[in-house]
Amino acid sequence: QASPSRSGVFHAETDQRLEAYAESISFDRRLYRHDIRGSIAHADMLASVGLISSEEAALIQKTLREIEVELDSGRLPIRFELEDIHMHVEQALIDRIGDVGRKLHTARSRNDQVSTDIRMWVRDALDQIDARLKDLQIAFLGRCDADFDVVLPAYTHLQRAQPVLAPHYWLAYIEKFERDRDRLADCRRRMNQCPLGVAAVAGTTLPIDRDQTAAALDFAGVTANSLDTSSDRDFMLEAAFALSVIASHLSGWAEEWILWSTVEFNFIKMPHAFCTGSSIMPQKVNPDTLELTRGKSARVMGNLQTLMLLVKNLPMAYNRDLQEDKPPLFDSVDTVIAMLELAAPIVQGSVLQRESIASRLEKGYLDATTLMEWMIAKGMPQRRAHHLVGAIVGEAMQLDVPLSELSIESLQAHAPEIDKSIYDCLGSRNAVDAFVSYGSTAPAQVRSQIDRWKKLLA
Ligand code: ARG
Repeated sequence: QASPSRSGVFHAETDQRLEAYAESISFDRRLYRHDIRGSIAHADMLASVGLISSEEAALIQKTLREIEVELDSGRLPIRFELEDIHMHVEQALIDRIGDVGRKLHTARSRNDQVSTDIRMWVRDALDQIDARLKDLQIAFLGRCDADFDVVLPAYTHLQRAQPVLAPHYWLAYIEKFERDRDRLADCRRRMNQCPLGVAAVAGTTLPIDRDQTAAALDFAGVTANSLDTSSDRDFMLEAAFALSVIASHLSGWAEEWILWSTVEFNFIKMPHAFCTGSSIMPQKVNPDTLELTRGKSARVMGNLQTLMLLVKNLPMAYNRDLQEDKPPLFDSVDTVIAMLELAAPIVQGSVLQRESIASRLEKGYLDATTLMEWMIAKGMPQRRAHHLVGAIVGEAMQLDVPLSELSIESLQAHAPEIDKSIYDCLGSRNAVDAFVSYGSTAPAQVRSQIDRWKKLLA
């Protein structure tokens, strides 16, 4: 049977090689629920404006629901000559109810149909990802109270920098994932305009009611220019970008915890349920989950590039190139969901290696900046204090002792204004307690941020 999209203008059947080349049903099948939902709303609208009768609409809708059940159970046969999910659903309808089914595609093209379907699909996907991001935030937040007394080195350039509370790290990730959620919400808001009714490219001469279908499909409004809409995939680019940033955050976290779980760091032990062994080295407990998170993030970022390149040279409006948008987008969504679903239990189940962390916490002069700021508070110009503390740290390095073990005499030899109260801010724990600024690792600040997030994520 000839493809329903081939009109009387054709003088030859489609070459089978083209059918195999052009089909998208193998991947756009997963749009079927959204496609059917769109068609049900479209049929309602066609009836309200009098383009079909309400009996016809009811028959179309009842049959579409039956087709949905068949698709649910995988019973609807796939036929490459029907190209995509839209044709499969429509043909199934026509096979069952004949001419009434042939009315459904009134005032509609696959161009506005696919754009509507995919927007609804992406909208749902973003909601799912948002929920999983929240779960991951909750996993980090859930660690904060128990880890509150642990002091960790903060790094810049992966060199020891200043001491921070462990929950300060956890809250840092919560902030990143909050921005990710905000990006998703922003992307969702912009994409939430209904394309249905722009038809192929110029709209329709038929008296449709676009607002009705938009409202029925939970869109906030309708798109305003048919040419723009037929060609627009900005919402996909934005979604793919937002997912890439999530992947980047997860990849950075994965890298950090892979390092932290080495013998060299020994800051954290990950739950064995999420680690793998070696087929030859019996002692190995490998962080493969996080390595795969780091690795899979590359695919998510690659998908963004694919989508950018796909659209960059397209003249308006719809071009079949756009069919290639779905595999990368679906892959990004699937990958990010999988990453997030594994991240949360790892965050929840990992154990800080307190003794190991504490045993080396006084290495690396995490309190040097605190000492410098103590001098600044006593009135010394910053540049002078910076230079002077450098000299003090240099001496401590030579003696291979932490700053807190330098005698008052040797400190005063560098700066006579130093008195014994200096020891109250030396050492990593004291240094943490000395912070005061908003957003710092000051225990009171961290406490109030934890409380803020407990309210926000409740
Ligand atoms: N399968 C197509 C896609 O994914 C649907 C739109 C086809 N439109 C067309 N005029 N050939 O983009």
